[in-house]
Amino acid sequence: MEADIIVDLQYGDCGKGKITHQLCKGGDYTHVLRYNGSGNAGHTIIHNGKQFVTHCIPAGVFFGIKSIIGPGCVVNPDQFFDEIEELERNGISTEGLVYIAENAHVIMDSHLHEDQGDEKIGTTKQGNGPAYRDKYARDGIRAKTLPCFEGYLINIYDEFHQSEDVKILCEGAQGFGLDIDWGDYPFVTSSHCTSAGALLNGIPPRAVRNVWGVAKVYETYVGAKSFEPDEEIFKMIRYHGKEYGATTGRPRQCNWMNVDLLKKAADINGVTHLVFNKVDILRQVNRWKVIENDDVLDFNSEEGMKDFLIKELDDIEVFFSDNPNSI
Ligand code: IMP
Ligand code: MG
Repeated sequence: MEADIIVDLQYGDCGKGKITHQLCKGGDYTHVLRYNGSGNAGHTIIHNGKQFVTHCIPAGVFFGIKSIIGPGCVVNPDQFFDEIEELERNGISTEGLVYIAENAHVIMDSHLHEDQGDEKIGTTKQGNGPAYRDKYARDGIRAKTLPCFEGYLINIYDEFHQSEDVKILCEGAQGFGLDIDWGDYPFVTSSHCTSAGALLNGIPPRAVRNVWGVAKVYETYVGAKSFEPDEEIFKMIRYHGKEYGATTGRPRQCNWMNVDLLKKAADINGVTHLVFNKVDILRQVNRWKVIENDDVLDFNSEEGMKDFLIKELDDIEVFFSDNPNSI
Protein backbone atom coordinates (compact mmCIF):
# COMPACT_ATOMS: atom_id res chain seq x y z
CA MET A 1 0.00 0.00 0.00
CA GLU A 2 1.09 3.53 -0.73
CA ALA A 3 -0.51 6.73 0.49
CA ASP A 4 -0.06 10.43 -0.21
CA ILE A 5 -1.64 12.95 2.14
CA ILE A 6 -2.93 16.46 1.47
CA VAL A 7 -3.05 18.76 4.51
CA ASP A 8 -3.96 22.39 4.93
CA LEU A 9 -1.33 24.28 6.94
CA GLN A 10 -3.48 27.27 7.93
CA TYR A 11 -7.20 27.68 8.71
CA GLY A 12 -8.78 25.76 5.84
CA ASP A 13 -9.75 27.22 2.47
CA CYS A 14 -6.19 27.12 1.12
CA GLY A 15 -7.10 25.22 -2.05
CA LYS A 16 -6.79 21.55 -1.13
CA GLY A 17 -9.51 20.75 -3.66
CA LYS A 18 -7.34 22.11 -6.44
CA ILE A 19 -4.32 20.05 -5.38
CA THR A 20 -6.42 16.90 -5.03
CA HIS A 21 -7.67 17.51 -8.53
CA GLN A 22 -4.14 17.98 -9.91
CA LEU A 23 -2.77 14.90 -8.17
CA CYS A 24 -5.70 12.75 -9.30
CA LYS A 25 -5.23 13.89 -12.86
CA GLY A 26 -1.56 13.01 -12.97
CA GLY A 27 -1.51 10.10 -10.52
CA ASP A 28 -2.28 6.43 -10.36
CA TYR A 29 -4.44 6.38 -7.26
CA THR A 30 -6.89 3.56 -6.69
CA HIS A 31 -8.70 5.45 -3.90
CA VAL A 32 -9.29 8.97 -2.62
CA LEU A 33 -10.06 9.09 1.09
CA ARG A 34 -11.60 11.97 3.03
CA TYR A 35 -10.19 11.54 6.49
CA ASN A 36 -11.78 14.12 8.81
CA GLY A 37 -14.67 16.53 9.19
CA SER A 38 -17.58 16.52 6.78
CA GLY A 39 -20.41 18.90 6.01
CA ASN A 40 -18.49 21.81 7.54
CA ALA A 41 -15.96 21.69 4.70
CA GLY A 42 -16.41 23.16 1.27
CA HIS A 43 -14.02 22.07 -1.45
CA THR A 44 -14.19 24.24 -4.52
CA ILE A 45 -13.15 22.34 -7.61
CA ILE A 46 -13.04 23.48 -11.21
CA HIS A 47 -13.58 20.49 -13.44
CA ASN A 48 -13.71 20.84 -17.23
CA GLY A 49 -14.30 24.56 -16.78
CA LYS A 50 -17.24 24.09 -14.44
CA GLN A 51 -17.16 25.00 -10.75
CA PHE A 52 -18.29 22.44 -8.16
CA VAL A 53 -18.44 22.84 -4.40
CA THR A 54 -18.37 19.50 -2.62
CA HIS A 55 -18.77 19.13 1.12
CA CYS A 56 -18.43 15.48 1.96
CA ILE A 57 -17.70 13.52 -1.23
CA PRO A 58 -13.98 13.31 -2.07
CA ALA A 59 -12.77 14.74 -5.36
CA GLY A 60 -11.64 11.36 -6.73
CA VAL A 61 -15.16 10.92 -8.07
CA PHE A 62 -14.40 13.47 -10.84
CA PHE A 63 -11.78 11.07 -12.21
CA GLY A 64 -13.65 7.80 -11.79
CA ILE A 65 -11.53 6.92 -8.73
CA LYS A 66 -13.17 5.15 -5.78
CA SER A 67 -13.90 7.88 -3.25
CA ILE A 68 -14.35 7.03 0.40
CA ILE A 69 -15.60 9.01 3.37
CA GLY A 70 -13.35 7.58 6.06
CA PRO A 71 -13.98 6.53 9.65
CA GLY A 72 -12.47 9.83 10.86
CA CYS A 73 -15.44 11.66 9.33
CA VAL A 74 -19.01 12.37 10.39
CA VAL A 75 -21.69 12.29 7.68
CA ASN A 76 -25.00 14.05 7.28
CA PRO A 77 -27.17 11.63 5.21
CA ASP A 78 -29.29 14.41 3.65
CA GLN A 79 -26.21 16.30 2.55
CA PHE A 80 -24.59 13.13 1.23
CA PHE A 81 -27.56 12.26 -0.99
CA ASP A 82 -27.99 15.90 -2.12
CA GLU A 83 -24.39 15.92 -3.21
CA ILE A 84 -24.70 12.63 -5.12
CA GLU A 85 -27.73 14.07 -6.90
CA GLU A 86 -25.97 17.34 -7.69
CA LEU A 87 -22.95 15.53 -9.17
CA GLU A 88 -25.14 13.24 -11.26
CA ARG A 89 -27.19 16.18 -12.49
CA ASN A 90 -23.99 17.80 -13.71
CA GLY A 91 -22.81 14.73 -15.57
CA ILE A 92 -20.41 13.28 -12.97
CA SER A 93 -21.11 9.58 -12.57
CA THR A 94 -21.02 8.38 -8.96
CA GLU A 95 -22.28 4.84 -9.56
CA GLY A 96 -20.04 2.33 -7.76
CA LEU A 97 -17.52 5.04 -6.89
CA VAL A 98 -18.70 6.68 -3.68
CA TYR A 99 -18.48 4.89 -0.34
CA ILE A 100 -18.79 5.58 3.37
CA ALA A 101 -16.72 3.67 5.92
CA GLU A 102 -18.97 1.46 8.02
CA ASN A 103 -17.45 2.93 11.16
CA ALA A 104 -17.82 6.61 10.17
CA HIS A 105 -20.29 8.45 12.38
CA VAL A 106 -23.60 10.06 11.48
CA ILE A 107 -24.67 13.68 11.96
CA MET A 108 -28.23 13.42 13.28
CA ASP A 109 -30.96 16.06 13.07
CA SER A 110 -30.47 16.68 16.80
CA HIS A 111 -26.78 17.52 16.16
CA LEU A 112 -27.70 19.93 13.40
CA HIS A 113 -30.32 21.52 15.57
CA GLU A 114 -27.99 21.93 18.52
CA ASP A 115 -25.28 23.55 16.36
CA GLN A 116 -27.69 26.30 15.24
CA GLY A 117 -27.38 27.70 18.76
CA ASP A 118 -23.58 28.12 18.65
CA GLU A 119 -22.32 31.61 19.31
CA LYS A 120 -19.03 30.92 21.05
CA ILE A 121 -16.96 29.33 18.24
CA GLY A 122 -18.60 30.61 15.08
CA THR A 123 -19.13 27.11 13.70
CA THR A 124 -20.46 26.32 10.24
CA LYS A 125 -23.67 25.12 11.97
CA GLN A 126 -23.46 21.74 10.25
CA GLY A 127 -23.73 19.67 13.43
CA ASN A 128 -20.08 18.69 13.31
CA GLY A 129 -19.09 19.37 16.96
CA PRO A 130 -22.14 17.68 18.54
CA ALA A 131 -21.69 14.60 16.29
CA TYR A 132 -18.03 14.15 17.32
CA ARG A 133 -18.92 14.77 20.97
CA ASP A 134 -21.45 11.95 20.88
CA LYS A 135 -18.97 9.69 19.09
CA TYR A 136 -16.41 10.15 21.86
CA ALA A 137 -19.06 9.93 24.58
CA ARG A 138 -19.91 6.51 23.03
CA ASP A 139 -23.38 7.74 22.36
CA GLY A 140 -23.12 8.19 18.58
CA ILE A 141 -24.42 6.26 15.60
CA ARG A 142 -22.18 4.53 13.09
CA ALA A 143 -22.94 4.69 9.38
CA LYS A 144 -23.43 0.93 9.10
CA THR A 145 -26.57 1.10 11.25
CA LEU A 146 -28.43 3.42 8.83
CA PRO A 147 -30.56 1.54 6.24
CA CYS A 148 -30.34 4.47 3.79
CA PHE A 149 -26.58 3.90 3.41
CA GLU A 150 -27.03 0.36 2.11
CA GLY A 151 -25.00 -0.04 -1.06
CA TYR A 152 -22.64 2.77 -0.04
CA LEU A 153 -20.91 1.16 2.94
CA ILE A 154 -17.35 -0.11 2.83
CA ASN A 155 -15.13 -2.04 5.22
CA ILE A 156 -11.84 -0.15 5.29
CA TYR A 157 -9.75 -3.10 6.46
CA ASP A 158 -10.95 -5.34 3.64
CA GLU A 159 -10.69 -2.56 1.09
CA PHE A 160 -7.18 -1.32 1.92
CA HIS A 161 -5.48 -4.33 3.42
CA GLN A 162 -6.84 -7.36 1.59
CA SER A 163 -5.92 -6.40 -1.96
CA GLU A 164 -2.78 -5.63 -3.96
CA ASP A 165 -1.53 -2.34 -5.42
CA VAL A 166 -3.61 -0.02 -3.29
CA LYS A 167 -2.62 3.66 -3.78
CA ILE A 168 -4.57 6.11 -1.68
CA LEU A 169 -4.75 9.87 -1.86
CA CYS A 170 -5.81 11.10 1.58
CA GLU A 171 -7.63 14.39 1.43
CA GLY A 172 -8.01 16.35 4.68
CA ALA A 173 -10.56 18.99 5.59
CA GLN A 174 -10.06 22.27 7.50
CA GLY A 175 -6.47 22.97 8.53
CA PHE A 176 -3.72 22.99 11.15
CA GLY A 177 -4.96 26.21 12.82
CA LEU A 178 -8.38 24.57 13.29
CA ASP A 179 -7.08 21.19 14.48
CA ILE A 180 -8.65 20.02 17.75
CA ASP A 181 -5.20 19.54 19.34
CA TRP A 182 -2.89 21.95 17.49
CA GLY A 183 -5.23 24.79 16.62
CA ASP A 184 -6.09 27.86 18.67
CA TYR A 185 -8.42 26.09 21.15
CA PRO A 186 -11.36 26.58 21.63
CA PHE A 187 -11.58 28.25 18.18
CA VAL A 188 -11.09 24.92 16.45
CA THR A 189 -13.09 22.20 14.76
CA SER A 190 -13.72 18.85 16.45
CA SER A 191 -11.55 16.58 14.31
CA HIS A 192 -7.91 15.81 13.52
CA CYS A 193 -6.83 17.90 10.52
CA THR A 194 -3.16 16.79 10.44
CA SER A 195 -1.42 13.98 8.56
CA ALA A 196 -1.76 11.98 11.81
CA GLY A 197 -5.51 12.30 11.31
CA ALA A 198 -5.18 10.50 7.98
CA LEU A 199 -3.48 7.56 9.69
CA LEU A 200 -6.50 7.14 11.97
CA ASN A 201 -8.39 5.91 8.89
CA GLY A 202 -6.61 2.58 8.55
CA ILE A 203 -3.47 3.92 6.83
CA PRO A 204 -0.32 2.41 8.37
CA PRO A 205 2.52 4.97 8.82
CA ARG A 206 4.92 3.01 6.61
CA ALA A 207 2.57 3.39 3.64
CA VAL A 208 2.99 7.17 3.58
CA ARG A 209 4.96 8.51 0.62
CA ASN A 210 4.43 12.26 0.14
CA VAL A 211 2.73 14.79 2.39
CA TRP A 212 1.46 17.74 0.39
CA GLY A 213 1.01 20.86 2.51
CA VAL A 214 -1.25 23.56 1.12
CA ALA A 215 -1.16 27.21 2.22
CA LYS A 216 -2.07 30.61 0.87
CA VAL A 217 0.45 33.46 0.61
CA TYR A 218 -1.75 35.28 3.11
CA GLU A 219 -4.03 33.89 5.81
CA THR A 220 -7.78 33.74 6.19
CA TYR A 221 -9.88 32.53 9.10
CA VAL A 222 -13.66 32.21 9.57
CA GLY A 223 -15.10 32.05 13.05
CA ALA A 224 -15.88 33.95 16.22
CA LYS A 225 -12.42 35.18 17.27
CA SER A 226 -11.05 38.50 16.10
CA PHE A 227 -8.32 37.84 13.54
CA GLU A 228 -8.12 40.60 10.96
CA PRO A 229 -6.13 43.79 11.75
CA ASP A 230 -8.13 46.95 11.14
CA GLU A 231 -6.42 47.99 7.89
CA GLU A 232 -7.83 48.72 4.46
CA ILE A 233 -5.39 46.33 2.74
CA PHE A 234 -7.11 43.27 4.21
CA LYS A 235 -10.46 44.38 2.83
CA MET A 236 -8.77 44.61 -0.57
CA ILE A 237 -7.31 41.12 -0.20
CA ARG A 238 -10.77 39.77 0.73
CA TYR A 239 -12.28 41.48 -2.30
CA HIS A 240 -9.69 40.36 -4.85
CA GLY A 241 -9.30 36.90 -3.31
CA LYS A 242 -13.09 36.39 -3.12
CA GLU A 243 -12.61 35.35 0.48
CA TYR A 244 -16.10 34.25 1.43
CA GLY A 245 -16.92 30.84 2.93
CA ALA A 246 -17.76 28.07 0.44
CA THR A 247 -20.19 26.50 2.93
CA THR A 248 -21.64 29.50 4.78
CA GLY A 249 -20.89 32.51 2.55
CA ARG A 250 -19.40 34.31 5.57
CA PRO A 251 -16.63 36.86 4.88
CA ARG A 252 -13.25 35.37 5.82
CA GLN A 253 -11.03 37.51 8.05
CA CYS A 254 -7.65 38.16 6.41
CA ASN A 255 -4.09 38.75 7.63
CA TRP A 256 -0.52 38.33 6.41
CA MET A 257 0.85 34.80 6.47
CA ASN A 258 2.28 33.81 9.84
CA VAL A 259 5.56 32.09 9.00
CA ASP A 260 6.00 30.66 12.51
CA LEU A 261 2.62 28.91 12.29
CA LEU A 262 3.45 27.73 8.78
CA LYS A 263 6.78 26.16 9.82
CA LYS A 264 5.23 24.53 12.87
CA ALA A 265 2.45 23.08 10.70
CA ALA A 266 4.97 21.85 8.12
CA ASP A 267 7.08 20.19 10.85
CA ILE A 268 4.22 18.52 12.70
CA ASN A 269 2.58 17.28 9.51
CA GLY A 270 5.89 16.04 8.06
CA VAL A 271 5.34 18.01 4.87
CA THR A 272 7.48 16.96 1.88
CA HIS A 273 5.88 19.23 -0.76
CA LEU A 274 4.28 22.62 -0.18
CA VAL A 275 2.01 24.59 -2.50
CA PHE A 276 1.46 28.30 -1.85
CA ASN A 277 -1.78 29.34 -3.51
CA LYS A 278 -3.18 32.69 -4.55
CA VAL A 279 0.08 34.45 -5.31
CA ASP A 280 -1.87 36.45 -7.90
CA ILE A 281 -3.95 38.09 -5.17
CA LEU A 282 -0.92 39.65 -3.48
CA ARG A 283 0.26 40.65 -6.96
CA GLN A 284 -3.06 42.42 -7.48
CA VAL A 285 -2.72 44.42 -4.25
CA ASN A 286 1.05 44.64 -4.78
CA ARG A 287 2.08 43.99 -1.16
CA TRP A 288 4.54 41.27 -0.14
CA LYS A 289 4.47 40.86 3.62
CA VAL A 290 4.56 38.08 6.21
CA ILE A 291 4.52 37.90 10.01
CA GLU A 292 7.50 36.43 11.82
CA ASN A 293 8.07 36.62 15.59
CA ASP A 294 5.05 38.93 15.82
CA ASP A 295 6.72 41.44 13.46
CA VAL A 296 5.54 42.30 9.96
CA LEU A 297 8.32 41.74 7.41
CA ASP A 298 8.01 43.69 4.17
CA PHE A 299 9.79 42.27 1.08
CA ASN A 300 8.60 44.89 -1.40
CA SER A 301 8.71 42.33 -4.21
CA GLU A 302 7.27 38.98 -5.21
CA GLU A 303 10.73 37.53 -5.79
CA GLY A 304 11.96 38.74 -2.40
CA MET A 305 9.10 37.02 -0.60
CA LYS A 306 9.41 33.82 -2.62
CA ASP A 307 13.18 33.60 -2.00
CA PHE A 308 12.60 34.09 1.72
CA LEU A 309 9.99 31.31 1.88
CA ILE A 310 12.10 28.87 -0.13
CA LYS A 311 15.02 29.48 2.26
CA GLU A 312 12.86 29.11 5.37
CA LEU A 313 11.51 25.77 4.10
CA ASP A 314 14.81 24.47 2.81
CA ASP A 315 14.13 20.72 3.00
CA ILE A 316 10.68 20.97 1.38
CA GLU A 317 9.85 21.11 -2.32
CA VAL A 318 8.04 24.43 -2.68
CA PHE A 319 5.58 25.47 -5.45
CA PHE A 320 3.87 28.80 -6.00
CA SER A 321 0.53 28.92 -7.72
CA ASP A 322 -1.94 31.47 -8.96
CA ASN A 323 -5.65 31.05 -8.55
CA PRO A 324 -7.13 29.00 -10.11
CA ASN A 325 -4.30 27.88 -12.36
CA SER A 326 -2.70 24.51 -11.92
CA ILE A 327 0.54 23.82 -10.06
P1 IMP B 1 -17.22 23.56 12.92
O1 IMP B 1 -16.20 22.69 12.31
O2 IMP B 1 -18.42 23.81 12.04
O3 IMP B 1 -17.59 23.12 14.32
O4 IMP B 1 -16.55 25.01 13.10
C1 IMP B 1 -15.45 25.24 13.97
C2 IMP B 1 -14.51 26.29 13.37
O5 IMP B 1 -13.90 25.78 12.20
C3 IMP B 1 -15.21 27.59 12.94
O6 IMP B 1 -14.30 28.65 13.13
C4 IMP B 1 -15.46 27.36 11.45
O7 IMP B 1 -15.57 28.56 10.73
C5 IMP B 1 -14.19 26.62 11.08
N1 IMP B 1 -14.35 25.74 9.90
C6 IMP B 1 -14.96 24.54 9.85
N2 IMP B 1 -14.88 24.02 8.63
C7 IMP B 1 -14.19 24.91 7.88
C8 IMP B 1 -13.74 24.92 6.51
O8 IMP B 1 -13.96 23.99 5.74
N3 IMP B 1 -13.04 26.02 6.12
C9 IMP B 1 -12.76 27.04 6.97
N4 IMP B 1 -13.14 27.07 8.24
C10 IMP B 1 -13.86 26.01 8.70
MG1 MG C 1 -12.98 24.96 2.37
